[in-house]
Amino acid sequence: MVASKICAAGYYVPEHTVSNDQLSEYVETSDEWIYSRTGIRYRHMSGGENTSQLAAKAAKRILEAAGADPLSVELIIVATISGDYATPSTACLVQAEIGAKNAVAFDLGAACSGFVFALSVADKYIRSGLFQNALVIGAEVMTKTLDFQDRSTCVLFGDGAGGVFLRRGNTGGVLAEDLGSDGMSAQSLLVRHSPVNNLCTQQSCKQPFLCMDGKAIFQFAVRETPKSISRLMDKTTLTYDEIRWIIPHQANSRIIDGIARKLHLPADKFYCNMYDYGNTSSASIPIALGQLWEQGALTEGVRVIIAGFGAGLTWGSLLLEF
Ligand code: UT7
Repeated sequence: MVASKICAAGYYVPEHTVSNDQLSEYVETSDEWIYSRTGIRYRHMSGGENTSQLAAKAAKRILEAAGADPLSVELIIVATISGDYATPSTACLVQAEIGAKNAVAFDLGAACSGFVFALSVADKYIRSGLFQNALVIGAEVMTKTLDFQDRSTCVLFGDGAGGVFLRRGNTGGVLAEDLGSDGMSAQSLLVRHSPVNNLCTQQSCKQPFLCMDGKAIFQFAVRETPKSISRLMDKTTLTYDEIRWIIPHQANSRIIDGIARKLHLPADKFYCNMYDYGNTSSASIPIALGQLWEQGALTEGVRVIIAGFGAGLTWGSLLLEF
């Protein structure tokens, strides 16, 4: 069977961390409120590095772990909603920075589901035979989209990048997938470029910041993510015992608890790191994969489910085998 073998994972986050207590010096909030409502205590914040720089640093680590020469890279996809520019793509900037001059490079925008969608696309390119390998990255400087006077959003997000390197092979890769979108609920989470064609009806929303109906997104995530994972599992003959971790998008520990309860699975089946990173949108799942890779936990044959949900609205789950 032709497969997109996952050869390595890696991540990079800016050095500077900001605690909940530090944030409470800028907005009326508290460590108690943030931690009890979200499970977040720290986030990494870029002190000037842009999205492509975080992505390129992650990319160099991933290629080194995979033992891949940048000149051999055939495809680069960067999932992001906070690219350096509208154009050129962040992927093209990464290509230049790492010297992958033979690659095709483009961005993909599906917000917090972005990495899941990008990995699905790269898998199809590789399995079709068009490309022999692919570097797939999720990278965000979310803090540049935030209004630091809006306590309902600025405490939630952080910056970072992570990704994987895929090579055409015979085993592992993406075993099953379930992707979905609901554009009818688009107004629940917006990051605006300009006032033209503005869907947002929330009066508190200011240009050009991220604005979100937190409760609506929370309910959507707890409702749709378990359904997506169940549909994914229905496409395989595997049981949950044969899956080592479920790695959901890291938005809120209470969302993950809700997903676990609906699937009747123990909480420790779910990988959680939002305590240290906050919500890094499309970077959250690949940062988790990078951490597990560095710990040596993603050995040959290990299976994980990654599950994203977020703006669009979008959601998606992939069953991966290393
Ligand atoms: O990445 C995908 C997109 N994002 C998400 O997945 C986020 C999904 N949503 C959530 O995680 C949660 O809805 C939040 C963490 C955003 C909010 O939690 P909540 O339990 O839904 O709180 P709430 O919005 O109902 O707010 C409760 C109260 C409000 O005060 P009143 O109106 O009850 O007096 C807020 O004004 O908490 C207040 N509040 C805060 N208080 C202290 C909102 N933000 C803060 C804050 N510090 N940072």
